Amino acid sequence: MRLLSWVVFLVLQIAFLPLAVVGGLMVTYKQMIVSKRLGVSQTMVEVLNGRWTMHVFEMRQDVATVRLAHSVPNTSIFGLWLVLVPLWVKYKLSGTYFGYPRVPAEGREGLGDLMIARTLYIDRIMRRVVGDMDQFVLLGAGYDTRAYGEFKRDGLAFFELDQAPNQELKVASLGRAGIEAAHVTFVSVDFSREDAFEKLRADGYDPTKKTLFLWEGVTLYLDVEDVRRTLRDVRKHAASGSVVVADFYSERFIRWGSGLLAKKTLEYTDETVGFGLPFTTDHEQILQHFLESEGMKPGETFFLGSAGKKGPFMVVAEFGV
Ligand SMILES: C[S@@+](CC[C@H](N)C(=O)[O-])C[C@H]1O[C@@H](n2cnc3c(N)ncnc32)[C@H](O)[C@@H]1O
Repeated sequence: MRLLSWVVFLVLQIAFLPLAVVGGLMVTYKQMIVSKRLGVSQTMVEVLNGRWTMHVFEMRQDVATVRLAHSVPNTSIFGLWLVLVPLWVKYKLSGTYFGYPRVPAEGREGLGDLMIARTLYIDRIMRRVVGDMDQFVLLGAGYDTRAYGEFKRDGLAFFELDQAPNQELKVASLGRAGIEAAHVTFVSVDFSREDAFEKLRADGYDPTKKTLFLWEGVTLYLDVEDVRRTLRDVRKHAASGSVVVADFYSERFIRWGSGLLAKKTLEYTDETVGFGLPFTTDHEQILQHFLESEGMKPGETFFLGSAGKKGPFMVVAEFGV
């Protein structure tokens, strides 16, 4: 079957090449031009596309993402299929992953695995800690669907924070997709300009309850002051035993993201990269010092790409309050 899967894959890949280019253009058009027209983030689409891909390749069950992806105006599921069909058929025939998406060994992740590995590691930490929590706060929620899937349960209060235009589009898209969101409190906030906790408290957040904060794919778009201030605010307003799960990026990764092409692409939708940590030497110590400097207690970590010569390009980190 493996040999057959290769033959079919190669034939399809060659036949689909022009269609894959069209598919890629369709996805890029929706992600960049439509996002720009709507005044919303393009980076949140990237994550949605990644989670949709994980679902259709049977890596991670996420029915809400599939429904949401069909209802948002700024991605193209048809385009994604045109790009991924050869790989999907290969996966279906052989039962193994090749190229993208794939589940790399820990530490051996490459940049192409970023979204997939990050999502799996975050899920893993969340499954361990969420049962002990009363509140779940998503900081910079984007199109995240964790509030509508396996983590949804009675007794867990959900809050999603995001910039107003992105949040308004998400709420409208959830409605169009028929995804039940009455259990979620949506709080619009700009971390750089507003006091997130003042708004959260006004909307029912209880600082005496144990809370899980998920801050995924956001710190790299903020500057160091906003990252540190947010951590200080969490420490000040969260009950003891609360947990934060966040990802931080290496300065090398941020430099790459500040390169001309990436910079211009992000600036197109008024986005930019900012905060990174110097992970080239002793990355564990660097992270520990950083977290402890904000009074946080380091927990489980996954350093992506740590087996490479240049050190990890990012970390998924759990830390306690
Ligand atoms: C790459 S997306 C990640 C979304 C989501 N966490 C996920 O994993 O699907 C980045 C998110 O960060 C949010 N964000 C970036 N800067 C922000 C700021 N200053 N205030 C609030 N949210 C911000 C964006 O609105 C966007 O939803």
